[in-house]
Amino acid sequence: MICDNISVNENGHLIFAGRDTVELAQKYGTPLYLMDENKIREHIREYKTAMQKYMPAGSIPEFASKAFSCKQIYRIMAEEDIDIDVVSIGEIFTAKSAGFPMERSFFHGNNKTDADIAFAMENGVGYIVADSFEELDAINSIAKSKGLTQKLLIRLTPGIDPHTHKKISTGSVESKFGFAIQTGDGEKAVIKALSLDNISLCGFHCHIGSQIFESEPFITAAEIMLAFIKDINIKYSLKTEMLNLGGGFGVRYVESDPEISYSEKIKEVAEYINKQCKSLEIDVPVIHLEPGRSLVADAGMTLYTVGSVKEIEGYANYVSIDGGMTDNPRYTLYESPYTVLLASKANGKKDFKATIAGRCCESGDLIQENVLIAKPQRNDILAVLTTGAYNYSMASNYNRVPRPAVLFLNDNSEYIAVKRESLSDICSLDI
Ligand code: LLP
Repeated sequence: MICDNISVNENGHLIFAGRDTVELAQKYGTPLYLMDENKIREHIREYKTAMQKYMPAGSIPEFASKAFSCKQIYRIMAEEDIDIDVVSIGEIFTAKSAGFPMERSFFHGNNKTDADIAFAMENGVGYIVADSFEELDAINSIAKSKGLTQKLLIRLTPGIDPHTHKKISTGSVESKFGFAIQTGDGEKAVIKALSLDNISLCGFHCHIGSQIFESEPFITAAEIMLAFIKDINIKYSLKTEMLNLGGGFGVRYVESDPEISYSEKIKEVAEYINKQCKSLEIDVPVIHLEPGRSLVADAGMTLYTVGSVKEIEGYANYVSIDGGMTDNPRYTLYESPYTVLLASKANGKKDFKATIAGRCCESGDLIQENVLIAKPQRNDILAVLTTGAYNYSMASNYNRVPRPAVLFLNDNSEYIAVKRESLSDICSLDI
């Protein structure tokens, strides 16, 4: 199996995080998101331990909570003692409501409104990651009106392309995010930040993209960022305390995706940074990484009930399920590969070529095309693996489909962390 939290029991049922998924589907209904709490904690600890071992004191992961945001995940991050990345007032509100220590949060986004910035400050967000010249002015004047000095990072685009899907590549010069180093805007942003009284410039940030399996693009990003830091430190007598290299390490959606060791990758990046800082004769800054997907993706699985199997000879075999693009839009958006299994016949011969279709009135509402699974029947349970990242957080109510519940599983208990949306929830904002 693509992850060690998945197996099959003697009844041929798929087991996830030690639970019979067919029983879970019966007990909680489908569609159902499952989250393996132990797996999330295991990944966090791997990042944390490696960063503490190989990077300067204070180096820490921030969970990029756009990957999966609900109150419970912020409680877990607080318990595991790591920082978070938030990108909207919705994420700030959720984290704060969960009791997360907001001084440990970093507020991102390419267009924070004045209201967003004020909200962040009022709710004690630790750092704002500035993305435009307008934003620098706005942060300064709002901080001034509140009588505070706002800690700040400047987001830079190092101008590299990590060869991932275009829609999830963010570090190239033409990106909508950040200030390009190459065009001189990065330096201009520093000059501006240093001229503003209610801003405290603590360091620099970049995020090159997502679903990256090699350390090389991160090393290239670090090389460019450290050269920039050296230059800026000398020109403006600055001491850069923090370098945030963003998120992006990949996860295994299918068997052909490589299996990587995050601690090994962190070690490689850290060794390069230490060596490079030595040759540039600068202090090694505190390093932050912002993993989203790699902390939660393989901690997730989605269960569906099969409704129909429509064989159109010579064309396609549609297996229709009781969910689809509303709970997982990633195939529709990016043609993302997923491993699909028939949870109720997990030992069955995988010889039926299926296109898994959602039930929205939309031909593109597919979860996967032409995957080999055991031949299903109505009421079989179908599992889509590795759905812990960018599934629940990207879910929608298109066609007024209620969003599924999220069930967390750990050694001792299983608990609903997000309730299934009800029909009255669907109408709750309608007048
Ligand atoms: N930091 C920043 C500033 C980001 O923009 C992102 C992701 C991350 C960290 C976390 O990256 P990760 O470790 O999860 O790769 N919806 C797309 C992914 C968009 C990623 C956006 N930014 C998907 O479903 O693949």
